[in-house]
Amino acid sequence: MKMNVLPIVILTLASVSCTGQSQKSTTPAPAAKSEPAATKTLVAYFSATGTTAKAAATLAEVTGGDLFEIVPEQRYTDADLDWRDSKSRSSVEMQDKSSRPAVKSKVEHMEQYEVVYVGFPIWWYIAPTIVNTFLEQYNLEGKTVIPFFTSGGSGKGKTLDYLRPSAPKANWKEPINLTGADKAKVEKLVKGL
Ligand SMILES: Cc1cc2nc3c(=O)[nH]c(=O)nc-3n(C[C@H](O)[C@H](O)[C@H](O)COP(=O)(O)O)c2cc1C
Repeated sequence: MKMNVLPIVILTLASVSCTGQSQKSTTPAPAAKSEPAATKTLVAYFSATGTTAKAAATLAEVTGGDLFEIVPEQRYTDADLDWRDSKSRSSVEMQDKSSRPAVKSKVEHMEQYEVVYVGFPIWWYIAPTIVNTFLEQYNLEGKTVIPFFTSGGSGKGKTLDYLRPSAPKANWKEPINLTGADKAKVEKLVKGL
């Protein structure tokens, strides 16, 4: 009698153990987290009187990008910015498209960014030449570069024509106008890119 019971016990144990195994193997493994790496974005800007700085801060908030100020070696005074004076610093610089005012700030590890927004006020219908100085400091090959600006009313004009030669291998987008743009407008503009 005892001898007859043993095979039944063994069979029962084996079946329990098999059921356990098969349950384990059909339980779906937790989904591997395979989210694509987030695009690293930089929002760099030059601002002489603070308007573009505000737009840049909003843009950084909306895009989740790192904010970076292009700081001139020599700050622009009110006299420097007097566009009615043909001898003011800004007038002289903008009359000479090859002028490259020095900057004293530098982006750490530019190579980590895939998208670079570059902001500025419109001066004489284009970007201040200090923006060219900024662009020429880095290898922007293959990066998406998106200019943005504020102005007293002018549009982008020929802005891109004067910026592109300073980073000819970048993937340039059309400049976006952030004059007076609130957060909702910035979100809309960024979505439309
Ligand atoms: C030297 C100089 C030139 C300017 N040229 C123009 C221009 O051509 N068209 C325009 O709409 N606004 C022009 N502006 C106005 C600025 O683009 C505008 O006030 C801008 O929002 C200032 O930005 P910021 O405060 O970041 O410097 C000029 C301002 C300065 C100081």
